[in-house]
Amino acid sequence: MSAENTTRTQVGIVGAGPAGLVLGQLLHLQGVESVILEARDRDYVEGRVRAGVLEQGTVDLLVEMGVGERLQREGLVHHGVELRFGGRGHRIPFDELTDGRGITIYGQQEVVKDLIAARLEAGAPLLFEVEDVMPEGIDSDQPSLRYRHDGQERELRCDVIAGCDGFHGVCRPAVPDGVLTAREHIYPFGWLGILAEVEPSSDELIYCHHDRGFALHSMRSPQLTRLYLQCEPDEDIANWPDERIWEELQIRFECEGWSLKEGPIVEKGVTPMRSFVAEPMQHGRLLLAGDAVHIVPATGAKGLNLAVADVRVMAEALVKWFSTGDETLLQSYSETCLGRVWAAQHFAWWMTTMFHRHPSDEDGFMARLQRAQLDYVCSSRAAATTLAENYVGLKKVSGG
Ligand code: APR
Ligand code: PHB
Repeated sequence: MSAENTTRTQVGIVGAGPAGLVLGQLLHLQGVESVILEARDRDYVEGRVRAGVLEQGTVDLLVEMGVGERLQREGLVHHGVELRFGGRGHRIPFDELTDGRGITIYGQQEVVKDLIAARLEAGAPLLFEVEDVMPEGIDSDQPSLRYRHDGQERELRCDVIAGCDGFHGVCRPAVPDGVLTAREHIYPFGWLGILAEVEPSSDELIYCHHDRGFALHSMRSPQLTRLYLQCEPDEDIANWPDERIWEELQIRFECEGWSLKEGPIVEKGVTPMRSFVAEPMQHGRLLLAGDAVHIVPATGAKGLNLAVADVRVMAEALVKWFSTGDETLLQSYSETCLGRVWAAQHFAWWMTTMFHRHPSDEDGFMARLQRAQLDYVCSSRAAATTLAENYVGLKKVSGG
């Protein structure tokens, strides 16, 4: 590799999703250099419709980092959520149950746009359309990232590599065999999600339990509604023309004195539901964060928040190491994160299990258990508090 194709930085970050971008900005603010390598182009990364629920802690961090201006202006703050079952709605008041905390609705791609703008404004390196990224030397103290950009083979030498490259990335597979233990659970259903150009039909999110399957009413703005329907995990979207989607949504959400507003569908997609965790979240000079190392089913809205929580811990550990040489926080990175990761896994599994129709539930046994659980959550302050405090985000997690 010629000298002009070799560069150096402190932290080589793979992936410009929320994890990589938040990490890059936190490091930049503390004077630590990084380079972010992203496989896709900027339009793709900024346009990808994903989750949209930010916990209070995530919002506070983005604001502290100086990327919260548009979020505070355009984000929709919610102080509660509706659980709908048996054709009736029940509100869980987050603010009353969690000392005034709530959530903010702001699309993940908007967070990503704000972070990319901040990174470019700071003049910090962020390369799009990078090919064949390959982490090397993670067992040594001179790791590097080999990659191709603009038709040139390049090498980025670094002190540490941050694998923020999502579930299908190259960093987790770069860990030698036998080091990581992966645990996963695949749910026998998926979500068919749509974005519709219509005013939301409710001020808050609605999680709906129905004999025909789960449905969720969410939103992106006062003019954009986001809706989901439980479907087969390998559902062919071609089987769902717009009329069929609206018909099914109308049936599942039916509730006296309430109606679902319809509008042009501008986006459609199917998401499988899976839980996955690989442990430990680090090996040698490679640290993994976000979807690269754990996946939660979307029912608890935790994916983005967990990714941000990971890199907050990672940034603090790296800053300490670079500024003092003290490795303690770095060595305990995985252990610190995993308490929160498993708490979120449990919450997402609980929400998923409580709301979805189980394909093997022929005599309705599971459905009866779900109704008993939902009744309890909506009638006991203790049970409602469990849902509320997990939903807005746990402040401190034991072991984390
Ligand atoms: N080289 C470079 N970049 C890569 C590679 C690769 N080999 N593989 C993947 N990437 C990029 C992807 O294109 C993507 O932009 O890594 C980024 C990973 O971003 P996300 O998938 O958004 O993951 P993360 O930043 O961990 O954010 C987690 O995303 O899936 C949602 O619900 C999840 O909200 C959560 C959030
Ligand atoms: C969304 O708005 O996309 C959304 C909201 C809540 C969830 C999942 C997704 O639990």
